[in-house]
Amino acid sequence: MIVTAHIDEVRANRWQDGTESWGLVPTMGYLHEGHLSLVRRAHAENDRVAVSIYVNPIQFAPTEDLSNYPRDLERDLALLEKETVDLVFTPSDAVMYPAGFQTAVTVAEVAKPLEGASRPTHFQGVATIVAKLFNIVQPSRAYFGQKDAQQAIVLRQMVRDLNFNLALIVCPIVREPDGLALSSRNKYLSPDERKAALVLSRALKQAQTAFDSGERDAQKIRQAMIELITAEPLARLDYVSVADSETLIELDVIKRKTLFSMAVFIGQTRLIDNMMVETSPV
Ligand code: PAF
Repeated sequence: MIVTAHIDEVRANRWQDGTESWGLVPTMGYLHEGHLSLVRRAHAENDRVAVSIYVNPIQFAPTEDLSNYPRDLERDLALLEKETVDLVFTPSDAVMYPAGFQTAVTVAEVAKPLEGASRPTHFQGVATIVAKLFNIVQPSRAYFGQKDAQQAIVLRQMVRDLNFNLALIVCPIVREPDGLALSSRNKYLSPDERKAALVLSRALKQAQTAFDSGERDAQKIRQAMIELITAEPLARLDYVSVADSETLIELDVIKRKTLFSMAVFIGQTRLIDNMMVETSPV
């Protein structure tokens, strides 16, 4: 496994044999089973796999957790070695944003609601770093988790609009046995908060049950989710959304593919979760 912080070395390895397909899994490290599921899928679909580990400062607002975002490079590399990853790119800030850097990638409409409303500079940071990673690695396929549903939608739009020559693959959320979606930020939760965090997956389960029994009134489902979340004393609701899965526009009536999503503070930790439902054609 080659581990490098240098763009030239990534490119030299990437193009050693121009006929091979490469899968890229961009990460911010502190890897968990969710990331490893992306790596395994990338392995299954490509000749070679590259993983990037970089905590991208420009996707964090000044008030967010950049300085204490969990990091453990040694452990990450051991996990990736076991997965027989070919290349790990671990750039520094100076490599990614050298003095004089002044370009940003902005995706407009789909980056505005939900996470974009709560974290207005976030998706510009994500789109910029991912565009850079795509240009550096030039993967055949790139893998992202459905856990960050809006991120995947924003990046899909970017790939389409900027004609990146790759397939963007979105892989299912990986959950703990009790339902909590895996996230590097789960590490911040105290034992009581860890229990309280189950309110996110419980709200989704409740929405799924309502949907399965024929409820199509989006506001009814949204309201029931809000009530369930706000009843949890350690939870502070940021948003609950029932939106069209492509435009992210809030729905009155559930139709086509619908994304149920939410952001909830559990103590100081902001968690997100979501599920997609699809109405069967009539
Ligand atoms: O999903 C993440 O971990 C990050 O947003 C990404 C895609 C690696 C960009 O920094």
